[in-house]
Amino acid sequence: MEPELAVGVIVGSVRPGRRGEAVARWVQGRAARRGGLAAEVVDIAAYNLPVLDEPLPAAYGRYEKPHTKAWADAIASFDAYVFVTPEYNRSIPGPLKNAIDYLYREWHDKAAGFVSYGVDAGGARAVEHLRVVMGELQVADVRAQVALSLSADFDGEDFTPGPERDRELDVLLDQLTAWGGALRALRRPATAR
Ligand SMILES: Cc1cc2nc3c(=O)[nH]c(=O)nc-3n(C[C@H](O)[C@H](O)[C@H](O)COP(=O)(O)O)c2cc1C
Repeated sequence: MEPELAVGVIVGSVRPGRRGEAVARWVQGRAARRGGLAAEVVDIAAYNLPVLDEPLPAAYGRYEKPHTKAWADAIASFDAYVFVTPEYNRSIPGPLKNAIDYLYREWHDKAAGFVSYGVDAGGARAVEHLRVVMGELQVADVRAQVALSLSADFDGEDFTPGPERDRELDVLLDQLTAWGGALRALRRPATAR
Protein backbone atom coordinates (compact mmCIF):
# COMPACT_ATOMS: atom_id res chain seq x y z
CA MET A 1 0.00 0.00 0.00
CA GLU A 2 1.18 3.52 -0.80
CA PRO A 3 2.13 5.62 2.27
CA GLU A 4 0.02 8.66 3.10
CA LEU A 5 0.41 11.62 0.81
CA ALA A 6 2.23 14.41 2.65
CA VAL A 7 0.41 17.68 1.94
CA GLY A 8 1.78 21.09 2.85
CA VAL A 9 -0.98 23.65 3.38
CA ILE A 10 0.90 26.85 2.67
CA VAL A 11 -0.41 30.04 4.25
CA GLY A 12 0.23 32.70 1.60
CA SER A 13 -0.27 35.71 3.84
CA VAL A 14 2.17 36.77 6.55
CA ARG A 15 0.22 39.81 7.75
CA PRO A 16 -0.50 40.10 11.49
CA GLY A 17 -4.23 39.37 11.86
CA ARG A 18 -4.38 37.58 8.52
CA ARG A 19 -7.48 35.59 7.60
CA GLY A 20 -5.36 32.91 5.93
CA GLU A 21 -4.47 31.02 9.10
CA ALA A 22 -8.08 30.02 9.86
CA VAL A 23 -8.58 29.00 6.23
CA ALA A 24 -5.45 26.83 6.34
CA ARG A 25 -6.62 25.13 9.53
CA TRP A 26 -9.95 24.37 7.84
CA VAL A 27 -8.10 22.77 4.92
CA GLN A 28 -5.97 20.73 7.30
CA GLY A 29 -9.07 19.63 9.22
CA ARG A 30 -10.92 18.48 6.09
CA ALA A 31 -7.83 16.61 4.91
CA ALA A 32 -7.54 14.88 8.29
CA ARG A 33 -11.12 13.51 7.95
CA ARG A 34 -10.16 11.35 5.01
CA GLY A 35 -7.69 8.52 4.81
CA GLY A 36 -4.50 8.80 2.84
CA LEU A 37 -3.51 12.41 3.47
CA ALA A 38 -1.16 13.75 6.14
CA ALA A 39 -1.65 17.51 5.96
CA GLU A 40 0.48 20.04 7.77
CA VAL A 41 0.09 23.81 7.89
CA VAL A 42 3.19 25.55 6.52
CA ASP A 43 3.54 29.10 7.74
CA ILE A 44 5.87 31.13 5.55
CA ALA A 45 6.10 33.73 8.33
CA ALA A 46 7.78 31.18 10.62
CA TYR A 47 10.74 30.88 8.22
CA ASN A 48 11.60 34.59 8.40
CA LEU A 49 12.60 34.71 4.75
CA PRO A 50 14.07 38.08 3.79
CA VAL A 51 13.54 39.40 0.28
CA LEU A 52 15.47 36.82 -1.77
CA ASP A 53 19.10 37.04 -0.65
CA GLU A 54 20.71 33.95 -2.17
CA PRO A 55 23.65 34.79 -4.47
CA LEU A 56 22.73 32.08 -7.00
CA PRO A 57 19.35 31.44 -8.60
CA ALA A 58 17.52 28.51 -7.00
CA ALA A 59 17.91 26.39 -10.14
CA TYR A 60 21.58 25.86 -9.18
CA GLY A 61 20.43 24.14 -5.97
CA ARG A 62 23.37 25.61 -4.04
CA TYR A 63 21.82 27.36 -1.09
CA GLU A 64 24.00 29.37 1.29
CA LYS A 65 21.65 30.79 3.87
CA PRO A 66 20.28 28.81 6.82
CA HIS A 67 16.77 30.20 6.25
CA THR A 68 16.83 28.92 2.66
CA LYS A 69 18.01 25.47 3.74
CA ALA A 70 15.26 25.24 6.38
CA TRP A 71 12.62 26.35 3.87
CA ALA A 72 13.96 23.93 1.24
CA ASP A 73 13.85 21.01 3.69
CA ALA A 74 10.24 21.81 4.56
CA ILE A 75 9.04 22.10 0.97
CA ALA A 76 11.00 19.05 -0.20
CA SER A 77 9.28 16.92 2.44
CA PHE A 78 5.82 17.18 0.81
CA ASP A 79 4.24 15.28 -2.07
CA ALA A 80 1.62 17.95 -2.72
CA TYR A 81 0.55 21.43 -1.65
CA VAL A 82 -2.57 23.42 -1.02
CA PHE A 83 -1.84 27.11 -1.41
CA VAL A 84 -4.11 29.26 0.73
CA THR A 85 -3.82 32.72 -0.75
CA PRO A 86 -5.56 36.05 -0.56
CA GLU A 87 -5.66 38.39 -3.52
CA TYR A 88 -3.42 41.42 -3.11
CA ASN A 89 -3.71 44.01 -5.88
CA ARG A 90 -5.08 41.37 -8.25
CA SER A 91 -2.23 38.95 -7.64
CA ILE A 92 -0.67 36.87 -4.88
CA PRO A 93 0.99 38.51 -1.86
CA GLY A 94 4.64 39.46 -2.38
CA PRO A 95 5.90 37.26 0.49
CA LEU A 96 4.32 34.19 -1.12
CA LYS A 97 6.00 34.87 -4.46
CA ASN A 98 9.28 35.51 -2.65
CA ALA A 99 9.01 32.20 -0.77
CA ILE A 100 8.25 30.34 -4.01
CA ASP A 101 11.20 31.97 -5.79
CA TYR A 102 13.64 30.83 -3.11
CA LEU A 103 13.41 27.21 -4.32
CA TYR A 104 13.35 25.25 -7.54
CA ARG A 105 13.75 21.47 -7.65
CA GLU A 106 11.94 21.07 -4.34
CA TRP A 107 8.71 22.01 -6.16
CA HIS A 108 9.19 19.78 -9.18
CA ASP A 109 6.79 16.95 -10.05
CA LYS A 110 4.41 17.67 -7.19
CA ALA A 111 0.69 18.44 -7.28
CA ALA A 112 -1.00 21.60 -6.01
CA GLY A 113 -4.47 22.96 -5.37
CA PHE A 114 -5.62 26.46 -4.50
CA VAL A 115 -7.91 27.93 -1.89
CA SER A 116 -8.21 31.67 -2.38
CA TYR A 117 -10.16 34.55 -0.94
CA GLY A 118 -10.82 38.15 -1.77
CA VAL A 119 -13.32 40.97 -1.82
CA ASP A 120 -15.07 40.63 -5.17
CA ALA A 121 -13.73 37.65 -7.11
CA GLY A 122 -12.82 35.13 -4.42
CA GLY A 123 -9.13 35.65 -5.10
CA ALA A 124 -9.52 34.14 -8.56
CA ARG A 125 -7.10 36.57 -10.20
CA ALA A 126 -4.40 35.72 -7.68
CA VAL A 127 -4.81 32.04 -8.48
CA GLU A 128 -4.61 32.65 -12.23
CA HIS A 129 -1.19 34.22 -11.64
CA LEU A 130 -0.16 31.40 -9.33
CA ARG A 131 -1.05 28.79 -11.95
CA VAL A 132 1.41 30.40 -14.38
CA VAL A 133 4.14 30.33 -11.72
CA MET A 134 3.39 26.67 -11.01
CA GLY A 135 3.84 25.83 -14.68
CA GLU A 136 7.40 27.14 -14.62
CA LEU A 137 8.15 25.07 -11.51
CA GLN A 138 6.72 21.85 -12.95
CA VAL A 139 3.93 21.68 -10.42
CA ALA A 140 0.74 20.01 -11.63
CA ASP A 141 -2.11 22.25 -10.47
CA VAL A 142 -5.51 20.63 -10.19
CA ARG A 143 -8.58 22.19 -11.75
CA ALA A 144 -10.83 22.19 -8.68
CA GLN A 145 -10.47 25.40 -6.72
CA VAL A 146 -12.12 26.96 -3.71
CA ALA A 147 -12.73 30.69 -4.12
CA LEU A 148 -13.93 32.19 -0.86
CA SER A 149 -15.80 35.45 -0.61
CA LEU A 150 -14.93 37.87 2.16
CA SER A 151 -18.61 38.78 2.47
CA ALA A 152 -20.22 35.31 2.24
CA ASP A 153 -17.63 33.06 3.89
CA PHE A 154 -16.38 35.33 6.65
CA ASP A 155 -18.23 37.07 9.42
CA GLY A 156 -15.94 40.04 9.90
CA GLU A 157 -12.61 38.45 10.75
CA ASP A 158 -14.15 35.04 11.57
CA PHE A 159 -14.07 32.32 8.92
CA THR A 160 -17.52 30.71 8.62
CA PRO A 161 -17.57 28.34 5.62
CA GLY A 162 -20.86 26.60 4.79
CA PRO A 163 -21.29 22.95 3.74
CA GLU A 164 -20.97 23.84 0.05
CA ARG A 165 -17.40 25.03 0.69
CA ASP A 166 -16.65 21.72 2.44
CA ARG A 167 -17.86 19.88 -0.66
CA GLU A 168 -15.76 22.06 -2.97
CA LEU A 169 -12.68 21.47 -0.86
CA ASP A 170 -13.30 17.73 -0.84
CA VAL A 171 -13.31 17.70 -4.66
CA LEU A 172 -10.04 19.62 -4.66
CA LEU A 173 -8.55 17.10 -2.22
CA ASP A 174 -9.80 14.21 -4.39
CA GLN A 175 -7.97 15.64 -7.39
CA LEU A 176 -4.89 16.43 -5.33
CA THR A 177 -4.79 12.87 -4.01
CA ALA A 178 -5.00 11.43 -7.51
CA TRP A 179 -2.31 13.61 -9.07
CA GLY A 180 -0.11 13.74 -6.00
CA GLY A 181 -0.08 9.96 -5.87
CA ALA A 182 0.60 9.57 -9.58
CA LEU A 183 3.51 12.01 -9.53
CA ARG A 184 5.33 10.12 -6.82
CA ALA A 185 6.41 7.62 -9.46
CA LEU A 186 8.19 10.38 -11.42
CA ARG A 187 10.29 11.32 -8.41
CA ARG A 188 11.48 7.79 -7.72
CA PRO A 189 14.83 6.77 -9.17
CA ALA A 190 14.22 4.83 -12.40
CA THR A 191 15.43 1.58 -10.79
CA ALA A 192 12.75 1.77 -8.09
CA ARG A 193 9.80 2.19 -10.50
C1 LIG B 1 -2.26 45.00 0.05
C2 LIG B 1 -3.65 44.48 -0.14
C3 LIG B 1 -4.18 44.44 -1.40
C4 LIG B 1 -5.46 43.91 -1.62
N1 LIG B 1 -5.92 43.80 -2.90
C5 LIG B 1 -7.05 43.10 -3.13
C6 LIG B 1 -7.44 42.81 -4.46
O1 LIG B 1 -6.83 43.20 -5.43
N2 LIG B 1 -8.55 42.06 -4.65
C7 LIG B 1 -9.30 41.58 -3.59
O2 LIG B 1 -10.28 40.89 -3.82
N3 LIG B 1 -8.95 41.86 -2.32
C8 LIG B 1 -7.84 42.60 -2.07
N4 LIG B 1 -7.45 42.86 -0.77
C9 LIG B 1 -8.29 42.41 0.32
C10 LIG B 1 -7.79 41.07 0.84
O3 LIG B 1 -8.19 40.02 -0.01
C11 LIG B 1 -8.32 40.85 2.25
O4 LIG B 1 -7.89 41.92 3.06
C12 LIG B 1 -7.80 39.53 2.84
O5 LIG B 1 -8.33 39.34 4.13
C13 LIG B 1 -6.28 39.54 2.93
O6 LIG B 1 -5.82 38.28 3.33
P1 LIG B 1 -5.11 38.08 4.76
O7 LIG B 1 -6.13 38.58 5.76
O8 LIG B 1 -4.89 36.61 4.89
O9 LIG B 1 -3.88 38.91 4.72
C14 LIG B 1 -6.20 43.42 -0.54
C15 LIG B 1 -5.67 43.49 0.76
C16 LIG B 1 -4.39 43.99 0.96
C17 LIG B 1 -3.82 43.99 2.35
